[in-house]
Amino acid sequence: MAKRLDGKVAIITGGASGIGASAVQLFHEHGAKVVIADIQDKLGHDLADKIGENLDIMYSNAGIIDGVVSRILDCTKSDMERVLGVNLVGAFLCAKHAARVMIPQRKGCIIFTASATTAIAGISSHAYAASKCGLLGLCRNLAVELGQYGIRVNCVSPYAVVTGISGPMNEADSRNLEMALSDTSLLKGQVLKAESVAKAALYLASDDANYVCGLNLLVDGGYSVVNPVLMNFMNKQSGN
Ligand SMILES: NC(=O)c1ccc[n+]([C@@H]2O[C@H](COP(=O)([O-])OP(=O)(O)OC[C@H]3O[C@@H](n4cnc5c(N)ncnc54)[C@H](O)[C@@H]3O)[C@@H](O)[C@H]2O)c1
Repeated sequence: MAKRLDGKVAIITGGASGIGASAVQLFHEHGAKVVIADIQDKLGHDLADKIGENLDIMYSNAGIIDGVVSRILDCTKSDMERVLGVNLVGAFLCAKHAARVMIPQRKGCIIFTASATTAIAGISSHAYAASKCGLLGLCRNLAVELGQYGIRVNCVSPYAVVTGISGPMNEADSRNLEMALSDTSLLKGQVLKAESVAKAALYLASDDANYVCGLNLLVDGGYSVVNPVLMNFMNKQSGN
């Protein structure tokens, strides 16, 4: 197998579970030295100091949800602050400390796990949507600033994947949820797994994506490109 990240050093936040854990494994298989990191300011700071001049890839992936969907009247200020704190402020800190190391070396790659909620509304809580849309804004703005130093900044944005974020469940329930989610997808014959998202992140991290910057790479099987409501209505009218 050709090693696409040979000799690179990567930090992956939220690497203990789900998409992050798949990315840790895949990046390692492709030759990267991988650090599984926290997203807190001091820890990020210390880690960047320790890694010094040799950080190639910052994959800011850690994230939380506050519920599946919510009504504004049920969404508390503390829910909003908690979700923004991890998903957006955490990612900002990752990027900031990565940039401290990457700007002097005039290269590097920053990846954020955003969400399909950046491309289609109504599929998550308000706090989660705000955090991920904010993350995409941060990604694009950083791409403008850091592109001039040769640093690429991109998002990978998955549709629903069964991971730790889905809550504790046994294998059968996981499988059933995966199949149910798959049924809602545009793309048939495929089930979205954490590994598929990790593969998209691997692409963004590798030299295969050497001219890709400011991209929101949706891994959603085309979910966000279609609104099936009108077509369903017309099919129903015509008896299909
Ligand atoms: N699973 C999905 O359906 C889905 C869809 C779109 C986007 N995402 C995003 O993918 C990313 C990864 O989520 P996942 O689905 O693999 O979930 P997961 O719960 O399996 O993994 C998230 C990891 O982040 C860690 N984490 C949470 N808060 C942290 C903090 N403050 N500091 C350090 N680590 C922290 C958790 O401990 C966990 O290991 C998240 O940003 C999530 O929002 C997930």
